[in-house]
Amino acid sequence: MPWRRPRKRVERPINVSRAIEESLEEAAAGEEEDESAELAELNGASVLEAATGEPDIEARAPSPFERLAGVRLGTDVPSITPVRSAARPEEDVDLAVDAARGLRLRNPVLTASGTFGQGVEYAELIDVSRLGAFVNKGTTVHARPGNPQYRIAETPSGILNSIGLENPGAAEVARKYGKAWVSLGVPVIVNVAGYSVEDYVAVVREMAGTPGVVAYELNVSCPNVRGGMLFGCDPGLAAQVTAAVKQETDLPVIVKLTPNAPDVVAVARAVEAAGADGLTAINTVLGMRIDVKRRRPILGTGSGGLSGPAIRPIAVHITYQVAQAVSIPVIGAGGVGDTDDALEFLMAGASAVQVGTATFADPLAPLRVIEGLAAYVRSNGLGSIREVIGTALPPEPIA
Ligand SMILES: Cc1cc2nc3c(=O)[nH]c(=O)nc-3n(C[C@H](O)[C@H](O)[C@H](O)COP(=O)(O)O)c2cc1C
Repeated sequence: MPWRRPRKRVERPINVSRAIEESLEEAAAGEEEDESAELAELNGASVLEAATGEPDIEARAPSPFERLAGVRLGTDVPSITPVRSAARPEEDVDLAVDAARGLRLRNPVLTASGTFGQGVEYAELIDVSRLGAFVNKGTTVHARPGNPQYRIAETPSGILNSIGLENPGAAEVARKYGKAWVSLGVPVIVNVAGYSVEDYVAVVREMAGTPGVVAYELNVSCPNVRGGMLFGCDPGLAAQVTAAVKQETDLPVIVKLTPNAPDVVAVARAVEAAGADGLTAINTVLGMRIDVKRRRPILGTGSGGLSGPAIRPIAVHITYQVAQAVSIPVIGAGGVGDTDDALEFLMAGASAVQVGTATFADPLAPLRVIEGLAAYVRSNGLGSIREVIGTALPPEPIA
């Protein structure tokens, strides 16, 4: 819950004869002044709160979330009241799947890394405890501010992003969100990113023992500082990072494949041999948009990652290829927005799916997919959703 009382918005005229950026900066500076003046007159605020502009944890009553979780959260630790659905129409249907070796989930619907924050942001909007699991924002060993603006551009049936792994660093993620995660009632998969093999291992070491965490997903769409090649583009490098992380943790390790690799199937086979417990197919597809007025790329970094319905056929194709090449579970990702999209991935051999970009337009999309899959199992007289997995794959060749 926001601690500050909502303020009445004061419209400030923008001087059109000046650069728009200058006017906006000036308007924002004025707002900050107003904000501090208002803090001092906040009804019910303690002296410490009024002076610092931060809530005084000792003085305030525990929030409903803290009572539920039996914890007192620090001032910068999110205090939330998780939404709970009155009805769970999927409950009488067997939707359980093995999303990776050693990772049985209540249903096959996850939310994708980078599109669901740290989970807590959505917990007041939707009942996150109904999800199979959620994957947090890519976590690096040190804090990262992310890339320069613009970081998102719309495209036909998708978006391009170049957020750039903005995150507070592994130790801070564990400290800030661990308590909240365990109280959300949903398994957490930590998305790990790095620029060397040691970076990936260090993130997993920092996150060890964090409540709620059930597995790691390795984002190998990062350049290796030694050589510059993306980890996920080279089967040898991807295998090295997988083996090193497997040494560090007993939790399941899922490797997230990049569609930008010259031979995705070779990478999938290499990481399976190195001990991966599962795969996610796929991360975003490289793309670019140009601002024709400025004659420059729209994104601050030039290129970015394409996601949404535009990449679904690519993702289904890779899932279909990879599912036949490995014997570990595959999680499908790329443009899943409704039940039929999820069924496509399951039939192509995925054991679970991730909903990403679709949640930006409709935060309820993942829950609608869960309900839709339950309805599909019921109306087709199936015993469980597992009967759907791989049904579109070619029959096994007769030996
Ligand atoms: C804004 C944004 C941020 C993302 N950040 C990450 C990230 O930090 N780590 C990662 O592995 N994938 C990241 N992804 C990729 C998604 O997890 C997902 O693989 C991809 O978007 C395809 O799924 P979708 O079409 O349903 O969004 C991001 C995607 C978007 C749109």
